[in-house]
Amino acid sequence: MTTSRRREMVRSIIEGRSTRPASTGTAYAPANIALCKYWGKRDAELNLPVTSSLSISLGGLGTATRISALDAGEDAVLVGKDAVEAPAAFRDRVVRFLDLFRPAPDVRFRVHTVNSIPTGAGFASSASGFAALVLSLDALFGWKLDRPALSVLARLGSGSACRSLYDGFVEWSVGTREDGMDSHAHPVSETWPGLCIGLLPVRTTEKTVGSTRGMDHTSATSPLYAAWPATVERDLAQLREALRTRDFRLLGETAEANALAMHATMLAARPALLYWAPETVSALQAVQALRENGLPVYATMDAGPNPKLLFETPHEKSIRAAFPTIEIVRPFNDQVMTPEASGVFGG
Ligand code: PMV
Repeated sequence: MTTSRRREMVRSIIEGRSTRPASTGTAYAPANIALCKYWGKRDAELNLPVTSSLSISLGGLGTATRISALDAGEDAVLVGKDAVEAPAAFRDRVVRFLDLFRPAPDVRFRVHTVNSIPTGAGFASSASGFAALVLSLDALFGWKLDRPALSVLARLGSGSACRSLYDGFVEWSVGTREDGMDSHAHPVSETWPGLCIGLLPVRTTEKTVGSTRGMDHTSATSPLYAAWPATVERDLAQLREALRTRDFRLLGETAEANALAMHATMLAARPALLYWAPETVSALQAVQALRENGLPVYATMDAGPNPKLLFETPHEKSIRAAFPTIEIVRPFNDQVMTPEASGVFGG
């Protein structure tokens, strides 16, 4: 949706900055997994949330993007190391977002984007995608915007993208302003070197209901949605406490309960919104069984069938044994390569 309010917001942020592109702009942004979820918009045009949320960024799993300006023709949106044309729905979404940033109506862009999130594993990459796109535009034009401003711009692409501007734990403050300028992410100072996130690809098909449609349908029809803001407020307080005291059990219990409460609001929507596959339920039950046997592991779920597991490094081996297809990320320990160093764009 390219509306005048979105354009106005972008204009006010980049006003007075360069409109002349360099030859290319390159950037990387990590994906992020919410420990306390964003589910519901108070303003659909500006992607303003009903509540704050809190996430962990996935270090080396994310999106690298290279952008250049073209004088004429059409926007080119290419994906993957082989730079193949993007699927139409993805291309349209990127083109609509780029419409907000053209310094003149005839300026077109070539965007090449490479994901390090396991492709085809059904893990959404829109958060790292829009964050990397905004960062690459900033590099292309040399705007040198500060992180909160970049976070606001990324939010216009996809709400959760505003959290992918930072590494580690990140909180997206709900904000109170109507123009949305105070609704952006900020880093949380606590670190957790032993924390692991496991991505469990149980179903690799595309999701059928996008998150925007899913959250709008839930907030409009679910009788349980009224309880969601208070749930988030309590869970956020508990998560902040868990990070402060490095209490893994409190972190895991809260994140898992928050995700399941979000899915409960969807199940009570009319008609119900069910993102889970049979394998999702099996995985969640396996997590419960491991816990009952003394292994501290918890699960969180987004708007799709693939669970993400939370555990600590001493248990990595047991987790791999229980879930052989798992991809494990250590957000505070993994080496993150720059797009240049990794050679994703061919050096
Ligand atoms: O950023 P969106 O519009 O794709 O919404 C993300 C919604 C969840 O992934 C379910 C929760 C979250 O906070 O990331």
